Amino acid sequence: MFIAANWKMNLDKQSILEFSKDLQNFKFSKDVRACIFPPMTYIDFLNRQIQNLPIYLGGQNCHFKSSGAFTGEISPKFLKDTGCEYVIIGHSERRIFNKENNNEIKLRAHSAINADLKVILCVGENLIDREKGNAIKFIENQILKCIPENFENSYIAYEPIWSIGTGKIPSVLEIREAHRNIKEILYKKFNVNTKVLYGGSVNVENINQILKIAEVDGVLVGGASLKVKDFLAIYTAAVKHLNNSL
Ligand code: PGA
Repeated sequence: MFIAANWKMNLDKQSILEFSKDLQNFKFSKDVRACIFPPMTYIDFLNRQIQNLPIYLGGQNCHFKSSGAFTGEISPKFLKDTGCEYVIIGHSERRIFNKENNNEIKLRAHSAINADLKVILCVGENLIDREKGNAIKFIENQILKCIPENFENSYIAYEPIWSIGTGKIPSVLEIREAHRNIKEILYKKFNVNTKVLYGGSVNVENINQILKIAEVDGVLVGGASLKVKDFLAIYTAAVKHLNNSL
């Protein structure tokens, strides 16, 4: 089980210090992995605050080259060097605001895996495709276009665009259908069982309902991960869920 906290462009040094203080005495479980994706400038700072804790670190994006004349970009090698194990690639905010297309996302994922990072590749439909009944087709196309050949040990995050930051989540059946399809596509391609996270308005109120879906291997949490209390409540829900299902 995987709980990923995508802080996006939020939390400064002082807030990270306070957040980290509240993590110090928390009992993390070896069965539920927590990973925080802070703003790039604070990865190292957060790393120093949580170095004794079993929390992983990740980048929110990386470039498709490992070095060179790419002003403002971040190398996957540097993320690894700074202590990251994971990187989010193809988040819909990158696709929309930075015009990253499927081909570029594939290159970024490829280069991240070459740098020994584990990729969390985001896919998900917009509201128009969902309402037209095209969601599954849309996701399938995104996956086939974004997955590099070396993808087999990576993760997918199913994040419907209309659910991100809106408080709306798909129904249990819709999440199950999307996750099943994603797993099937990847099984056909790589013969491995890929872990699929759900992302989009995950919070303390809906976490139990989401975790009950057997095809959900974890969650990618944005807004609700900015408050340490909520982040730990979501983490605790995952631990309880696992204990109950044993
Ligand atoms: P949200 O964001 O939880 O604030 O909806 C999720 C994400 O964008 O990864």
